[in-house]
Amino acid sequence: MSALYAAARPLLFTLEPEKAHALTLKLMKSGLMPSCKPVENPALEQVLWGLKFPNPLGLSAGFDKNAEVVGPAFKLGFGFVEAGTVTPKPQHGNPKPRIFRDPSNEAVINRMGFPNGGMNAFKANLEKFLAGKNRPAGVVGINIGMNKSQSEPAKDYGVLIKMLGPMADYLTINISSPNTPGLRDLQKRGPLLELIDTVKEERAKACGDHPPPILVKLAPDLEEAQQQELAETVLEAKIDGLILTNTTLDRPAILPRAFREQSGGLSGVPVRAKSTAVIRNFYQLTKGALPIIGVGGISSGADAYEKIKAGASLVQLYTGLVFQGPTVANSINRDLLSLLQKDGYTHISDAIGKG
Ligand SMILES: Cc1cc2nc3c(=O)[nH]c(=O)nc-3n(C[C@H](O)[C@H](O)[C@H](O)COP(=O)(O)O)c2cc1C
Repeated sequence: MSALYAAARPLLFTLEPEKAHALTLKLMKSGLMPSCKPVENPALEQVLWGLKFPNPLGLSAGFDKNAEVVGPAFKLGFGFVEAGTVTPKPQHGNPKPRIFRDPSNEAVINRMGFPNGGMNAFKANLEKFLAGKNRPAGVVGINIGMNKSQSEPAKDYGVLIKMLGPMADYLTINISSPNTPGLRDLQKRGPLLELIDTVKEERAKACGDHPPPILVKLAPDLEEAQQQELAETVLEAKIDGLILTNTTLDRPAILPRAFREQSGGLSGVPVRAKSTAVIRNFYQLTKGALPIIGVGGISSGADAYEKIKAGASLVQLYTGLVFQGPTVANSINRDLLSLLQKDGYTHISDAIGKG
């Protein structure tokens, strides 16, 4: 953590988490957030799905739900930014308060329920970024989900792909947020195969010769048998990659009682080991055939490296940014370079799955 953030954090944490987040977005949009020169090193660059990732660390979904700060996020040193989750229609999400932090364990619980401005506003924001003259290098993923009122999920995913697919470097099908009733039920063979069929059909219609890769984001709360079934299903459906994992419904005993009793998804340090175990399992079950983006509790270079060695080709974080501050991406990328060197690897891809 930088000395500046160490001084600013106690002040920021006097605000309710959602207000602190809104202020952070405002600072980023206004250009007042200090930016830094991203770490550039060929050892960290990778081409996946034909996309050039300048470094393996991304900003995970939920931070920039409306694609308002994609440019400023790149200026913090992230190699890719996943905007969303966006739904077709705007929606308010669950009643506030709905985000809770536990600094003692560097953890967050959220039950946001996909509040966002809808796909029209999202599209306008992203278009502005994409049309920018001095656009920073980096990959932009779009994370899509269904409206709470939708009883036929495939319809919403289809509409979103039609509208946003052509702008996406990659698309994430989010079927793992715990705060939209019924969403996690899509993590089953039958419903998932059906959904992927629709998604591919819509992608073919909307994106023609430039189809963005399709990634599926899964929960960490899957039994061994479910993981096995899903690994077989995603291979059969020929999706392009996995994002592992979303937040957990677990409540480890170490968490303070008042925090633990909040409903929603838990993120940050307490989900780290579970998410890494899921990555390792899927990497083995799919025999490394599908690139995995590893996410859950990363706050240091060592955490990121552990997920890469478990089988992740790329990694993401959200909660680590809350507790470590805006220099976290550069600090992780710098530490990754040292860790690679220490292990005698010349390139990040040499370490994937070597744990
Ligand atoms: C406040 C908050 C909102 C989130 N919103 C979304 C979301 O809209 N879509 C999504 O796929 N994941 C969402 N996530 C999950 C994160 O993208 C990530 O998968 C999870 O938090 C684990 O990573 P972390 O420990 O680095 O935060 C959210 C997480 C938090 C803390």
